[in-house]
Amino acid sequence: MTVFSQGSIRKIVGGEGSIEQLSDVAKSFNAQNIVVITDAGVFATGLVDRPLEILKNAGFNVNLIKDVPPEPSVAQVNGIYAQAKEFACDLLVAIGGGSSMDTTKLVSLMLRNSVTLEQMVKGAKPTQKGVPTLMVPTTSGTGSEATPNAIVLVPEENLKVGIVTDLMIADCVILDPVMTAGLPPRITANTGIDALCHLMECYISAKHNPLCDTFALEGIRLVGQSLRECFTNGSNLKAREKMLLASCYGGICIASSSTVAIHALSYPLGGRYHIPHGLANAILMPLVMDANKDSCLDRYYDMARAIGLDVLSKSKEEAADLFVKELYALNRDLGIKCDLKEKGITVEVIDELVEGAKKVTRLLGNNPKTFTYEEMAEIYRKLIAANA
Ligand SMILES: NC(=O)c1ccc[n+]([C@@H]2O[C@H](COP(=O)([O-])OP(=O)(O)OC[C@H]3O[C@@H](n4cnc5c(N)ncnc54)[C@H](O)[C@@H]3O)[C@@H](O)[C@H]2O)c1
Ligand SMILES: [Fe+2]
Repeated sequence: MTVFSQGSIRKIVGGEGSIEQLSDVAKSFNAQNIVVITDAGVFATGLVDRPLEILKNAGFNVNLIKDVPPEPSVAQVNGIYAQAKEFACDLLVAIGGGSSMDTTKLVSLMLRNSVTLEQMVKGAKPTQKGVPTLMVPTTSGTGSEATPNAIVLVPEENLKVGIVTDLMIADCVILDPVMTAGLPPRITANTGIDALCHLMECYISAKHNPLCDTFALEGIRLVGQSLRECFTNGSNLKAREKMLLASCYGGICIASSSTVAIHALSYPLGGRYHIPHGLANAILMPLVMDANKDSCLDRYYDMARAIGLDVLSKSKEEAADLFVKELYALNRDLGIKCDLKEKGITVEVIDELVEGAKKVTRLLGNNPKTFTYEEMAEIYRKLIAANA
């Protein structure tokens, strides 16, 4: 068995209406001063109103930061940290997607460590546990509530960088599908494919292990059952619940395994060209999964079964082909597309993209096969042709 190490969330509260448990959960931290961190889009939906009311009614002193930018840069996270520092808080509550949750994880650490974010980006490790965190995801995608990772944009390098430490894993998570029911179809699709990528990539990663395998296959099964339904009928709470679990399972997988080439190749698309994280992964997903197929046919067979394909009478090769076809079909059904030309991505920038992806050794090093420069260039070439 591969040697693996899994940090995990201390408490998970889940199910429809579980947000009502918020004050009981907050009380378990013996907290008095709470800072709630969210973004303007989530705040505008009214999703934060009830959690604020619950906390205030329970007697907590509550402050709100509601301007986390989408996919924030180092300077922007520092800006949120500066706001949080003003309040002597003993609990941080993140309500939002990966942008709010990642920011909250970093702020939590910075409040209790002297290491700066700039130093962490360069690899410095904090040593102290941060201010306790309680996460309420409102997208079903990043699984950030379960991962030891936070991603920040480093504009000088045109790249996103992942900071990784078990100290960042959330103390408590509330998984309430009601909090994702109003997610617009476009974001539902992009973030849902991000979750699927985490599950699949962790399952084929060189770091896969029995614990990750269990969550990955179950997560892929849940995505197969519910992502299309969430896209077409977002108010179906049963489907939303399945996607929220799948997303969290993807995060649990990342905590002991690792994403691989889809995420590595997507980092330059986000870092330099600001394509949203989920969308960048989604357009790359079938191409990279196709390119990896021959290196782990057994695992593709398992994933084909998990996602709901009837492959019992098929060979491993046939099942893997059918699985990749299903990924293309899923993208088609979810209307995944991105005008790359409009974003400035043409064949002229392929070398720059490959150079950017090559820097993401943390992920590329775990891909089931070693991609040559030319193989990565070929994936980007096909991507540009498919999204012209
Ligand atoms: N920490 C990790 O392990 C990890 C993993 C993958 C990605 N990420 C990072 O997470 C970030 C992306 O997070 P994301 O994909 O969740 O998107 P996001 O947090 O940036 O949110 C996307 C948009 O959706 C809106 N939104 C969120 N929830 C909503 C709801 N319920 N109803 C209506 N609108 C809603 C937000 O206002 C925002 O405009 C990126 O920075 C990415 O790099 C982190
Ligand atoms: Fe991701």
